[in-house]
Amino acid sequence: MFGKFSLNKKGNSELPAVNPSELSRIPEHVAIIMDGNGRWAQRRGLPRIAGHREAMKTVKRITAEAQHLGVKVLTLYTFSTENWKRPKAEVDFLMKLPEQFLHSYLVELKKNNVQVQVMGDLSIIPEHTLLAVNQAISETKNNSGLILNFALNYGSYAELTQAIKRIAQDVLDRKLAIDAIDVQAVSARLLNPELPAPDLLIRTGGELRLSNFMLWQLAYTELYFTDVYWPDFAEEDLRQAIHSFSERQRRYGGLNGGGTK
Ligand code: FPP
Repeated sequence: MFGKFSLNKKGNSELPAVNPSELSRIPEHVAIIMDGNGRWAQRRGLPRIAGHREAMKTVKRITAEAQHLGVKVLTLYTFSTENWKRPKAEVDFLMKLPEQFLHSYLVELKKNNVQVQVMGDLSIIPEHTLLAVNQAISETKNNSGLILNFALNYGSYAELTQAIKRIAQDVLDRKLAIDAIDVQAVSARLLNPELPAPDLLIRTGGELRLSNFMLWQLAYTELYFTDVYWPDFAEEDLRQAIHSFSERQRRYGGLNGGGTK
């Protein structure tokens, strides 16, 4: 009936370690809701932004591990369309992170053949953030390794609304017949339509919700929740999530695991 999900209540340090050779299936596309930065910092008596700063180190480690394991696409929920509601100082800090991250890491990403992509509405992103992001996209566009896709000012409601508007416009312009509106027609009008749907979604930080993230694309995605705060999320935690994924049978609504994504 419903897709299986995992809740790792304890934290992965209490589970037996996973050796990469034990992973029988590697998800092509892993998407992550990187939650728990603020609580990680508050637990240490630090300001919330200290958690976001630490989070960048986790992004570096997890990108490297995903690449090492053979993941093809890693989508990271970096800033949502709802995150503008946070205090201005925190928003300003979050908008500096892509720049800081790329400043210290773009050389290595290039060396590792990583291709940077961005998914979201960039029209209201500050100029300095946009410059850094566009530079990374353009300098890595010919790379053929891991696609590192930053969801930046991303929200599914906005994404689906613009897809619906485009469909309506195409119908008005007689480029699309109403009967031709199907799953493919909608998917093709989403952001980054060339990317496959995520096979595995990980949410750190203990909350059990999707928070307006890739709602269409996650229709048949395997879900994995862990209490571990994002700054503490380690390579072993990623391997645990992929281990859980590799033990599941995906049936896509059928009986034997066949069907389409
Ligand atoms: C959610 O934690 C996290 C965010 C809103 C920001 C995510 C940003 C990063 C992980 C930084 C990495 C960025 C780049 C560009 C490499 P929260 O603040 O909601 O935590 P809480 O639930 O504990 O309050």
